[in-house]
Amino acid sequence: MSAPQAPHLWLRAETKPMEHRAALTPSTAKTLLDAGFKITVERSSQRIFDDEEYAKVGCPLVKTLSWKTDAPADAYIVGLKELPENDNSPLHHTHIFFAHCFKNQGGWKELLHRFDAGKGTILDLEFLNDSNGRRVAAFGYMAGFAGAAVAIDVWCHQKINKGKTYGALKPYPNENALIDFSKKRLAEAAAKNGNVYPTIMVMGALGRCGTGACDFARKAGIPEKNIIKWDIQETKAGGPFREIVESDIFVNCIYLNTKIPPFITRQLIDGPRKLSIICDVSCDTTNPNNPLPVYTINTTFDKPTVPVESSNPYPLEVCSIDHLPTLLPRESSDMFSKDLLPTMLALKNRKDSPVWNGAEKLYKEKLAASKA
Ligand SMILES: NC(=O)c1ccc[n+]([C@@H]2O[C@H](COP(=O)([O-])OP(=O)(O)OC[C@H]3O[C@@H](n4cnc5c(N)ncnc54)[C@H](O)[C@@H]3O)[C@@H](O)[C@H]2O)c1
Repeated sequence: MSAPQAPHLWLRAETKPMEHRAALTPSTAKTLLDAGFKITVERSSQRIFDDEEYAKVGCPLVKTLSWKTDAPADAYIVGLKELPENDNSPLHHTHIFFAHCFKNQGGWKELLHRFDAGKGTILDLEFLNDSNGRRVAAFGYMAGFAGAAVAIDVWCHQKINKGKTYGALKPYPNENALIDFSKKRLAEAAAKNGNVYPTIMVMGALGRCGTGACDFARKAGIPEKNIIKWDIQETKAGGPFREIVESDIFVNCIYLNTKIPPFITRQLIDGPRKLSIICDVSCDTTNPNNPLPVYTINTTFDKPTVPVESSNPYPLEVCSIDHLPTLLPRESSDMFSKDLLPTMLALKNRKDSPVWNGAEKLYKEKLAASKA
């Protein structure tokens, strides 16, 4: 019997504004090429890795967004975020990306119907799970890391530039640049705050995002005693929790999978509080069970915060950016792509791979649900 044919991966260009990450880095692409894969890379001026870095390891470069017309039928189209257009055109390929349509998000049926019409398939990166039900690759750690960085910076801004709107965010070239910046800002803000560093409460501190948030706070120089770590044990009595408004910064990192009492209420934020910035990393913004029912929109890199209405005049803002890891696109991509690599290699024998079989089964179930 002949060996299964090596898969062809087609790395598409991302089009979401400010999205600089990549599912395959030049280094993971090289490992896959060495394992016999074929990899085509669409040119992208947005991606943190230069096109030439891919070319150097042996990936042919092709026109931006040419997958639709030029990718062979058996190529896997690999990306991260939304597909570029939102029309009704049928989708013929097997796509590996975060489709954001398996949890009945806005437009979920329409997207699934496009794949159905073109006989394509979604193998959703969010649902690639190992035999313990654990995600094989996730951006969570970097989301929490970046979320804490933004929250701390907004707090600093509130102290340094009282009353002024917090401006647009730009990705950092690397982690050290972000940490150095944050340390300087904290020192400046603490000086204006009686030399007192903020207290930061991280909810869901034992998870991926929560671990990243606590690590950033430490690396930025916030003393350990100022980092309050809560997880499921601490919230089992049910909210709301005064401790949240008694902290300066609140970073929510829980994985919400059931209805829970709210962590904070309007009554709580109208009362006495130190809290002036919430970073909702979990971003269950439009979920009816959102445990932070004090804001309604996702914020963006261009406009990272929105004010929360409160009869207490002390400022309170929310940051609810749903692609925080793009603040550190290089490290985020490296971490994610390395974790994904063994699963990518398993595409060679996809029929024997429980991870890919699970993803395909889920796609079929969701497609059936979209037609029910
Ligand atoms: N904003 C972004 O850019 C971004 C990026 C990646 C992930 N996320 C989101 O972040 C969330 C967390 O992801 P993760 O990978 O860290 O999940 P995870 O499963 O690794 O961790 C979640 C943690 O939350 C805790 N938790 C759950 N319910 C809780 C409760 N009621 N009270 C206190 N703690 C509770 C769990 O015990 C766990 O430790 C998800 O909703 C994910 O979609 C956001």
